[in-house]
Amino acid sequence: MSIRTKATAAVASAAAVTLFAGTALAASPGAPGVGDPYFPGYGNGGYDVSHYDIRVNYNPTGDQLSGTTTILAKATEDLTQFNLDFLLKVKTLRVNNAPASYAQDGDELVVTPRGGLRKGQDLTIVVTYADTPSQVKDHNGYTAWTKTPDGALAIGEPEIARWWFPANDHPTDKATFDVNVAVPTGVEAISNGTFLGTTRQINGWTRWNWRSTKPQAPYLTFLTIGQFEVRQSTAPNGQPYVNAYSESLGANLDAAKASVERTPEVIDFLTENVGPYPFEAQGGVVTPYLGYALENQTRPNYDAAFFRRGANTYVLAHELGHQWFGDSVSVHHWRDIWLNEGFASYMEFLWSEHVGEGTAQENADFTYDSYPADSPFWQVLPGDPGAANVFDGAVYDRGALAVHALRVTVGDEKFFEILKTWTAEKKYSDATIEEFLAVAERVSGQQLDQVFQTWLFTKGKPAEAPGRATQVAAADAKVAPKKAAEPKSRAKIQLTHELLDAHK
Ligand code: TRP
Ligand code: ZN
Repeated sequence: MSIRTKATAAVASAAAVTLFAGTALAASPGAPGVGDPYFPGYGNGGYDVSHYDIRVNYNPTGDQLSGTTTILAKATEDLTQFNLDFLLKVKTLRVNNAPASYAQDGDELVVTPRGGLRKGQDLTIVVTYADTPSQVKDHNGYTAWTKTPDGALAIGEPEIARWWFPANDHPTDKATFDVNVAVPTGVEAISNGTFLGTTRQINGWTRWNWRSTKPQAPYLTFLTIGQFEVRQSTAPNGQPYVNAYSESLGANLDAAKASVERTPEVIDFLTENVGPYPFEAQGGVVTPYLGYALENQTRPNYDAAFFRRGANTYVLAHELGHQWFGDSVSVHHWRDIWLNEGFASYMEFLWSEHVGEGTAQENADFTYDSYPADSPFWQVLPGDPGAANVFDGAVYDRGALAVHALRVTVGDEKFFEILKTWTAEKKYSDATIEEFLAVAERVSGQQLDQVFQTWLFTKGKPAEAPGRATQVAAADAKVAPKKAAEPKSRAKIQLTHELLDAHK
């Protein structure tokens, strides 16, 4: 204790000399949020996380989660205290090996390290905890953790971390992850990245070890526990490839496999169109208990319902498209959600054309025609949908039309150059719609704000579908334009969007 105090004092005074050189800056509490206008409590100020080591035990019987998360971070300002986003019951908390006092206040875990922290200081934060996550509600009374008959799912957007590990829970603070989960032997525990194998525990349990070496947003980090068939192999590009199929998929199992087993093929297709695949592993997980799909980094999770009418590779094109649009390049604020959903939805149009089930233009025409001008659909702005409408259908469908509008305005060559420039320049980072506009204008050499204004930021149905071939002769001008024919891909794309959109 006395040694520790002296060491801290020495470090602190050295830092004061080098960093502050005489200026008396007062330390203050870190902000309880990163300043996201839609979700003010998300993330925290004052520090930057570089790594999470999540080491937990989970017993499906009783939904018991316990363990330790170790966070490596750096203080970005002088701090008297800082927050983590966390809901479970904390048992102990240390900062740089010293016990720190803490308080749990709503969705925030407020940490007060002894003697405060200096800007630039490296932090090792160790939190031990135990709780029953399915019974823990956030300040809205909402529970994102799903207890299933055979295990649990920690899968959610825009938030899930707080139900299973303490985090700086915002996509603007990405980190690498080790996820090590012990479960009773015979139960499977799946997460992101590379599978490092299982280790037997002395008590008859087995630990599953997963590693993500590329920057990853906390909400994209998942845990799927239950009875699964796990398939491990190597993708044609040499990357480790792990799929997991719930043993409760019943009649949907074969259709699920006929889709998800094509993951490397879809990744290769997207690579050609939008740039190099940004991550180090591949895969997919299918469960009957999710209700939707989520673009978890390297390994999306899919509900079995996507495959209830047979194989559906459109939901793969969507979730794997998110690996570039959403996971590698994340939203700066949740208002920028079009950068995720508009582009992931457009990848379905590209895939439709690739597999000969309708061109992107035919899909755009049909989508445009399927919403009458008086539909409330046209009243939600994909460029600023509001916190309650972040996953509204308009963000997906009108969002995809906006991407197509850009494409027909700049032409194919510039369009794909814009996508590749964007995914390269913003790789592993976060960005705004305004930054996308700037890149699109720079690469194309065209002024594009009108296109964005029309498709993202103006209520009401735009006068014409983007790029539609309207060779209506002058004499026919009074005849209503012909409705677009339904592309073969439409039923699957529609099923995909019905299940994906309109979530919280
Ligand atoms: N982003 C997901 C997708 O389009 C869908 C989604 C929206 C979601 N909200 C969610 C998934 C909440 C899980 C939880 O692929
Ligand atoms: Zn999506």
